[in-house]
Amino acid sequence: MTADTMREYYARRAEEYERIYARPERQADLALIKRAIEEAFAGRHVLDIACGTGYFSRCAAHRALSVSGIDANEETLAIARAKQIPNAVFDIGDAYALRRPERRYGGCLITFWWSHVPRQRLAEFLAGVQNALAPGAQVLVIDNLYVPGNSTPVSRADQEGNTYQERRLGNTERYEVMKNFPTPSELEAWGTRFGTEVAVTSLTYFWMFQFRSR
Ligand SMILES: C[S@@+](CC[C@H](N)C(=O)[O-])C[C@H]1O[C@@H](n2cnc3c(N)ncnc32)[C@H](O)[C@@H]1O
Repeated sequence: MTADTMREYYARRAEEYERIYARPERQADLALIKRAIEEAFAGRHVLDIACGTGYFSRCAAHRALSVSGIDANEETLAIARAKQIPNAVFDIGDAYALRRPERRYGGCLITFWWSHVPRQRLAEFLAGVQNALAPGAQVLVIDNLYVPGNSTPVSRADQEGNTYQERRLGNTERYEVMKNFPTPSELEAWGTRFGTEVAVTSLTYFWMFQFRSR
């Protein structure tokens, strides 16, 4: 799967995307996640990378000074903008080509994007994130645990250890999507390389990973 196919998949999925957050068995975890996001970013200017439809940008915005969401697709951004979150703006942007802003961010939210970054590009991605953040910025990354019987099965792995799922959109179009499931120790190692105060938490369906940027 190329980065372009990934972008196209989410453009086509934009309208149905938020259904995933309505799954009843995941509500207790999602409530914890929303609280963690609100608390992590209180009083900060936040960069939300691959913000999608702005579902979690809204949580960050509750107590943040501002939220800047970037995403590769106008289709998802249009849904985010329609939420009319007062202190949030949404712009087109590439997670692998983050610009160093004039005022670097004090917070960074990355939800359900880490799993789509090829393992061989994680260092490049994190270096770009670091460049956009002030030292000490709070980084919060959230993504899926692999839960047998609940997660979409993994269909194959490639030579770099990236794993893939066969996904179907509502209109039956099929996509093979890269979806990685890192272990807590892998996340801790990335946190230690790029930050301090590293914490990894496993919920039932999701993991949360926090660190302070160097
Ligand atoms: C799994 S969704 C996550 C959306 C949102 N963060 C959430 O948690 O609901 C992944 C998002 O990544 C976006 N995307 C794909 N490639 C991208 C890239 N190179 N740079 C920025 N965003 C990208 C897609 O458009 C999609 O909105």
